This record gives sequence, C-alpha cells and structure tokens, in this order.
Amino acid sequence: MADTAKSAGHVAVIMDGNGRWAQMRGRPRLMGHHAGAKRVREIVEACPDVGVKHLTIFAFSTENWKRTQTEVAGLMRLFKRYIRRETQDLINNGVRVRFIGDRIRLEDSLVALMDDLELATSHNTKMNLTIALNYGGRDEVTRAVKRLAYDVEQGKLSHSNVNAEVLSGYLDTHFLPDPDLVIRTSGEARISNFLLWQSAYAEYEFVDTLWPDFTAAEFVKLVSRFGQRERRYGGIAV
Ligand code: IPE
Ligand code: IPE
Ligand code: MG
Repeated sequence: MADTAKSAGHVAVIMDGNGRWAQMRGRPRLMGHHAGAKRVREIVEACPDVGVKHLTIFAFSTENWKRTQTEVAGLMRLFKRYIRRETQDLINNGVRVRFIGDRIRLEDSLVALMDDLELATSHNTKMNLTIALNYGGRDEVTRAVKRLAYDVEQGKLSHSNVNAEVLSGYLDTHFLPDPDLVIRTSGEARISNFLLWQSAYAEYEFVDTLWPDFTAAEFVKLVSRFGQRERRYGGIAV
C-alpha cells in the first residue's frame, strides 16, 4: 500500500489512442474502442492496492460528436454493452459508479442503463469509478453557472455568497475531491476540455502508450511516481 499521505487519492485518466491502435493494425477504429474498453477493468482493480479511492475516466467528450456517425453510434452501442457486461463485477468488487457529463444528448436507453448502474452500485464503498460521458469542462461550468444563476433569480442564493466552494457544488463533480493526478495516454500533451476547473493543481503524466496497451503495471508506476512529487500549491517548499 502506498503512503496514504502522499498517495493519489483521485486519479483521472484521458483514455486516448484507441483509433490509432486499430489503424496500426489495419482495423476499423471501433475495434480500437472495444480493445480500449477491455482495459478499464484491470485499471479499476489495481486502484485499491495503491491507495486510489477515486478513478475518473474520460469516455466521450462533448467534442466527440464531430466524429463520423458510424463511430459515434458504435461508441454508444459499446457504452451500453460495457454497462450490461460489467455491472455484476463492479457490484462484486465494491465499486460505486457515477457518471458526469450532460445526459440530455444521450439516447434514453443508454441513460436508463447509466441510472440503473448508479443505483445498483450506490451502496458500494471500496472505491469510486466516475465515467465522463458527453463531458466537457466548459460545458460543465456553463451548465453549473446556469443553475447557479437560476437559484439567485429564485432568491435561494445571494450573489454575495458565491465563491469557489459554492460554484464547485454546482458542478457535475460535486461529490468528488479534485484530481491529484491526471494521466493521458497516446502521446498527446493536451487536456482536451477535461476537468478544467477541478485540475487547477493536479499533477500531469503524459505517456506514449496507446490506451488499449495501457496496463495496470504502468498505472501503478505512474501512481507511485506521484508519491515522489512535491506539490506546492503556490507556496514554497518546506
Ligand atoms: C480515445 O481514443 C477514445 C475516444 C475519444 C472516444 P481516440 O478515438 O481519440 O483515438 P485516437 O486519438 O484517434 O488514436
Ligand atoms: C479526448 O480525446 C476525449 C476522450 C479521451 C474521451 P480526443 O481524442 O477526443 O481529444 P483530441 O481531439 O485529440 O483533443
Ligand atoms: Mg484521440
């Protein structure tokens, strides 16, 4: 078990590189997504041993609708299949699952499965898996500000009481601590609209591995390396 004082309690992962993984093999991009979905279980199972209580994974962004209709439809089918297939194991492993992102644009049948999975795992306490689906950081903040403005309009909140903590409470992630470590696979060094507000002081790891090749061993190595980093939060080293 990692030193709890320094362990990355919340790790967020941008699972990137599925398309390139498939293309390198001369296969359709969707095959890469299927291979990628299979990696998630191993990473989830590695978390409790290294002190990771919260794992948040980026599955589909608000920008991913720009992809071909075939890819988007295939991904939506994959999400449904993933939920159906993994529910029992997630329950058995004590994993509580929650989704972040805007559900309004998702098919009703997918949203129903998401709701069922959240409910079926709501009593689990071993670890927390948060899946970002139709998630975008700017979209999340915009929706939060809209709801906050509505509450001000309704007289439930005074504008003078608005602060960072209050705004955080309106975000999709209101139940989560800020991420300690954000990992992105596939060699791209950008955050692509993921957890913009929440990652203000996150540490980042950009690795070249394509997501379908990412193993629990590599994950554990990155989490351990986090333990050696010095976080200053704007202050000075002590
Ligand atoms: C990440 O893999 C998964 C999703 C965005 C849904 P990509 O599909 O972005 O893979 P690359 O970046 O094209 O290789
Ligand atoms: C980010 O990856 C979104 C997910 C991993 C779900 P993208 O592949 O969509 O990001 P860009 O297009 O390279 O910025
Ligand atoms: Mg990509």
